Amino acid sequence: MECLVEIKRSEVMTFSHLTCSSQLLSWWGGVQMGPPDPILGVTEAFKRDTNPKKMNLGVGAYRDDQGKPFVLSCVRKAEAMIAAKQLDKEYLPIGGLGEFTKACAQLAFGGDNEVLKSGRSITVQTISGTGSLRIGANFLSRFHGGPHDVYLPKPSWGNHTPIFRDAGMQLKAYRYYDPSTCGFDFKGALEDISKIPEKSVILLHACAHNPTGVDPRPEQWKEIADIVKKRNLLVFFDMAYQGFASGDIDRDAWAVRYFIEQGHNIVLSQSFAKNMGLYGERVGGFTIVCNDGDEAKRVESQLKILIRPIYSNPPMNGARIATTILNTADLRSLWLEEVHGMANRIIKMREQLVAGLKKEGSSQNWQHVIDQIGMFCFTGLKPEQVERLTKEFSVYMTKDGRISMAGVSSGNVGYLAQAIHAVTK
Ligand SMILES: Cc1ncc(COP(=O)(O)O)c(C=O)c1O
Repeated sequence: MECLVEIKRSEVMTFSHLTCSSQLLSWWGGVQMGPPDPILGVTEAFKRDTNPKKMNLGVGAYRDDQGKPFVLSCVRKAEAMIAAKQLDKEYLPIGGLGEFTKACAQLAFGGDNEVLKSGRSITVQTISGTGSLRIGANFLSRFHGGPHDVYLPKPSWGNHTPIFRDAGMQLKAYRYYDPSTCGFDFKGALEDISKIPEKSVILLHACAHNPTGVDPRPEQWKEIADIVKKRNLLVFFDMAYQGFASGDIDRDAWAVRYFIEQGHNIVLSQSFAKNMGLYGERVGGFTIVCNDGDEAKRVESQLKILIRPIYSNPPMNGARIATTILNTADLRSLWLEEVHGMANRIIKMREQLVAGLKKEGSSQNWQHVIDQIGMFCFTGLKPEQVERLTKEFSVYMTKDGRISMAGVSSGNVGYLAQAIHAVTK
């Protein structure tokens, strides 16, 4: 017995010695500390602040007028309907839930769109908008016959660059935002787009441009579509906010539908994070519009080959919720009301913020706060003003002066106006 214990002890010693020496030979010693995520870093700093008046205007997630995360009633009802069905939890197909992908494409294009009737598009379910963009970027990287350059608006959503870069595409930019007007640099955008080499990829935000909140007007979209056609560019639409911008799902999809009408075979990313409040459920779609049904079938086969080794097949819960809402008449109308309600609350906050700034005595022109659309407002605040807002008023936002309007409520809009006026007067 004694002997056995001895042997075990010595084994333990030898083992721990090996562990020690293997720790010396670290595999990851050369890994450098990466910078914190610019948006999630803001939330970390916000959490540490003890000021009761603190505001987090960094993250783009909708809050109700009490500042609380908001679960839509149509989502709660759909969840109850799904739970009552006692459905199984088998794997979904690689391309996702068929009923979902159909409803997703119909939402984007409109149910009676020729593209859907002729079967010349293919939609796969994706891991929200980010996953959709990444599947799209990977597909372009593998199959696009033109230059592997993706032209992003300047500025664009911060994640676009790493998504396309990590998929092996090169990033370029076209002018979009004009700091002197806090509006759309239409002339600059047209000039730059007209010089993009043929067959390159251009990324367009379908509505509620993030981070600027600045969208082209319909007549401007028409000119953009013309130039894009002349340059023979491949259009990649990112539609993460359908319904969230104006409160009207058809109005927000106008540009996407117009481009299709004009003969552009676009690719499209959709997200249901914002318009259904399904952030953590990760529901999205990726669509490629093809020349004909045969091309669509071939493209579909390659999308499946691409998806299979990444995550095999997408998660089902969120897709079931979104499908139930889209395909059940009374839930769909409830959803449309609720999207409208969210968009309206944000529009109201924009107006109240500007009214508050005027009341504080600000002589600056804040019209852009009202003119911009969607969840974000590009205030035009300089980095040093943003720093003061955070240090002196506990108002947290990204350094570029972007505020998430969703974090503003009737209860704190007055304080925000006071704070912004104090650092801009
Ligand atoms: C422009 C844009 N595209 C895509 C996304 C994707 O978001 P998610 O992956 O949460 O659907 C976002 C989210 O903020 C966005 O603003």
